[in-house]
Formats: sequence, structure tokens, C-alpha cells
Amino acid sequence: MPVEVTAIAGSLRENSHTRTALTHALRGVEDAGGRGTMLDLREFELPPLNPDRDEQGDSAAFARRVREADAVVLGTPTYHGSFSGVLKNGLDHCGFDEFDGKTVGLLAVAGGAFPITALEHLRSVCRALDAWVLPHQAAIPRASSAFDDGEFADEDLEERVLTLGRRAVEYAAIEPDPPTFESGQNVGADG
Ligand SMILES: Cc1cc2nc3c(=O)[nH]c(=O)nc-3n(C[C@H](O)[C@H](O)[C@H](O)COP(=O)(O)O)c2cc1C
Repeated sequence: MPVEVTAIAGSLRENSHTRTALTHALRGVEDAGGRGTMLDLREFELPPLNPDRDEQGDSAAFARRVREADAVVLGTPTYHGSFSGVLKNGLDHCGFDEFDGKTVGLLAVAGGAFPITALEHLRSVCRALDAWVLPHQAAIPRASSAFDDGEFADEDLEERVLTLGRRAVEYAAIEPDPPTFESGQNVGADG
């Protein structure tokens, strides 16, 4: 059975550079013998999370798709120096059942030159979910000039993104680390 890797793009834009970049990460997944799928947030009704409700819109279907993946690649646009609220809301509809011990790769896109803070913030959130986050990550600055007809203009950047997909397959079954300190303290979803 091939390793199943699911990519989630935190942009709802029709011509999202984040989604374009993730399609390349999924090529890396296929290079490494895995099977890649894009989980498109536009296809799920995910209202802002209300924890008083057990299920909202398509939250159960969305969480199930995340749970079934062997590894997940999260891609986000940089919004105000962080990752997008759309992606955070998607993650809020998930929890330890979906992410505990799961291998997660990170990719961020920015209109400007500095997508790093979005990656750092996302890494913190993934640690709180007790995911196993790949050390390798992909940052795509100046997104509007990063692609020509959907292909990367810069080969080195393309290679970083392909490597992200390959690593997600290679490390999908890694022995999970002991629970992170953050995951033990950030118990809101359970408590
Ligand atoms: C609400 C909002 C906030 C943004 N904030 C930043 C920012 O802080 N830094 C930056 O470099 N780009 C910022 N941008 C630009 C986006 O990162 C850029 O347009 C990116 O390509 C969007 O991703 P997408 O193409 O996948 O939709 C912002 C865009 C929006 C809509």
C-alpha cells in the first residue's frame, strides 16, 4: 500500500500560489512512491469553530480525511506575518485524533520576502497537536513572480518543495517522539 499524503492549502483563492506550490509537493510525494491528494478547503463547509457543538457543517468529514492520511503537508499564505485564519479554523476542527504522532510537512508562501514567521507559528501549532513536524520546510517568497504557468521559476525553490513531498513519504511511519510539552499543557480540546 502506498503512503497516503494529504495536502491542505490555507487559501481559498481561485489562483492560489499556495495551492500551486502544494501540487509540486505532491509531485515529490509521487516521486517517492507515495500517493498524494489535495484536500481543498473550498469543498468543505467549515464554519468558525464553536466548541459547544459536536459537529458543524462538514467538520466530521474533513477530520476523517485528515485522520486517514499517513502524513499531511500544510501549506499557507502569509497573512499579517502569520498563517491564515482559514487554515487555523480547519486545524481547530481537528485535534489529537487527527494529528497525534502524525508526520506533518510545512510550506508557506508570501507576497513579500519573508514567509518564515508563518512557518514558525504553524510549527508551534503542530507541536501543540503533538504532530511530528519535518525539519525540512519550504518558504516561497514573492509569490506573484515565483511561478510561470504553474511551474517554479527558480529550480532551487522547486527542489525544496519536491523534497518536502519526498520527506513526507520517507518519514510518514517514523516512530513518534514522546508527547511534546506543549501537547500536555494545551489541553483545551479535551479539557
Ligand atoms: C489578509 C492578507 C494579509 C497579507 N499579509 C501579508 C504579509 O504579512 N506578508 C506578506 O508577505 N504578504 C502578505 N499578504 C500577501 C499574501 O501572502 C500573498 O498574496 C500570497 O500569495 C497569498 O497566497 P495565495 O496566493 O495562496 O492566496 C497578505 C495577503 C492578504 C490577503
